[in-house]
Amino acid sequence: MPDMLVKLYNLDDDWRFLAELKKRGISVRKPIGPEKHLIVQWVSDKFGPAWASETDAALANVPRTCFVAIKKAAIIGFACYDATALGFFGPVGVDRLHRRKGTGKALLLACLLDMKLKGYGYAVVGAAKDTDFFKKTVGAVEIPGSTPGLYHPRVKEAQSDIG
Ligand SMILES: CC(C)(COP(=O)(O)OP(=O)(O)OC[C@H]1O[C@@H](n2cnc3c(N)ncnc32)[C@H](O)[C@@H]1OP(=O)(O)O)[C@@H](O)C(=O)NCCC(=O)NCCS
Repeated sequence: MPDMLVKLYNLDDDWRFLAELKKRGISVRKPIGPEKHLIVQWVSDKFGPAWASETDAALANVPRTCFVAIKKAAIIGFACYDATALGFFGPVGVDRLHRRKGTGKALLLACLLDMKLKGYGYAVVGAAKDTDFFKKTVGAVEIPGSTPGLYHPRVKEAQSDIG
């Protein structure tokens, strides 16, 4: 899975996609403090502990570097940046039942425009799984030689051999 580069300076500063999604009952916004444990748990349940750790890290940043998609008071998607490394976008995930309706793109754009406002020129999509999604939505290009990238080697689960 390669890393991908996104030119933030080429993105339109146009947040109307949020209003479009709202018409379909979906809000994309930054979480507030009391929601932290619910979001981390949801990401863990749907996408596993590593993505939950990254989300936890993004939610510990000030200001938070995470957006969630909410429908009828339930989480249906999330996206983070500056979670794995500064300038990195990801992880992002949408509940299977709610995919292909524009939510993933809205979460991606919210994060990237937030990064742009902070002054970043480029974003790196870390270890992109769905490369076609990032190519299509924001013109991301694969970074040569980026597999395996920053994510390896990682600390393994601790053995219970203390003492
Ligand atoms: C990738 C993911 C976040 C996309 O979310 P989504 O809500 O289904 O995406 P959207 O509906 O906003 O799609 C936006 C556009 O990208 C296209 N698209 C979505 N997923 C795609 C994919 N896997 N490959 C190619 N195109 C894709 C859509 O058809 C849509 O195109 P359109 O604007 O012409 O209609 C979602 O599939 C997901 O959660 N996947 C599992 C987790 C994952 O792999 N995350 C990425 C890790 S790098």
